Amino acid sequence: GGTTAGGDAAGPKATDQLVVGFAQVGAESGWRTANTKSIQSAFEEANIELKFSDAQQKQENQIKAIRSYIQQGVDYISFSPVVETGWDAVLNEAKAANIPVILTDRAVDSKDDSLYVTFLGSDFVEEGKKAGEWVVNEYKDASAPVNIVQLEGTTGAAPAIDRAEGFADTISSNPNLTVIASQTGDFTRAGGKQVMEAMLKSNPKIDLVYAHNDDMGLGAIEAIEAAGLVPGKDIKIVTVDAVKDGMQALADGKINFIVECSPLLGPQLVDVITTLNEGGTVEKRILTDETTFTQEQAVTALPDRQY
Ligand code: AHR
Repeated sequence: GGTTAGGDAAGPKATDQLVVGFAQVGAESGWRTANTKSIQSAFEEANIELKFSDAQQKQENQIKAIRSYIQQGVDYISFSPVVETGWDAVLNEAKAANIPVILTDRAVDSKDDSLYVTFLGSDFVEEGKKAGEWVVNEYKDASAPVNIVQLEGTTGAAPAIDRAEGFADTISSNPNLTVIASQTGDFTRAGGKQVMEAMLKSNPKIDLVYAHNDDMGLGAIEAIEAAGLVPGKDIKIVTVDAVKDGMQALADGKINFIVECSPLLGPQLVDVITTLNEGGTVEKRILTDETTFTQEQAVTALPDRQY
């Protein structure tokens, strides 16, 4: 099934008359920077006015931005919710103002799915499962416990919750695979480094790091090297995203496996808005196409990697 919105009785607006407000999470990672670029350039190309705000990873800033878009009477609001819960009030305000909301990248946890038109982005549980499958296979012959540490994304964020869940479900098939420590690094490189430093101090034997994004994995590499260990060998690393810096570390043998999460959501978001403006219908859930990369595959893919 699909939903329709916009394109009122007066018919579609000319695209150069449309105004869209986008409330971004922040600029916490390479992924986010690529996502912002994709959105801004897609709107520029489509000649649709985009009002853009950066919430610096704070929900209150995102709520303020959405309220200001409502006040300005934009035609559509899109945002990538920093955390899953706590959106019903502001989304009801948008609904009361008849402004359709499109979720990109991250979902909201709400009982009322009439508060948004569609959710466009990745399946984060699936990403966690893919990471877990690589680990299960890598240690299929292990007869001793494998000590795993997890660097979690922003607490309460959909990708942090879902990537942890998919991974835990998958590795539970082998009782030797144990997550001995798990802590948030807030999806940043500095956060990943700091948490990894502390984990290395309190855990004498770490076999593998599962980082919820490349940036935290890259921070962990710095901490591992500073401790005199070899990332990718002494301690294996699995991450999610596949941004250029992550792919470079994978090709260099410092990361062992990356699950792709595509940040290139701009063109699809423009498609959704254009369709709605013309009175058309979009699916309630639009999934992004994604793959995984081994070290060999990273070497091949790197020269053409756009971000
Ligand atoms: O919501 C997507 C996640 O947010 C990306 O995996 C991470 O890098 C970003 O900060």
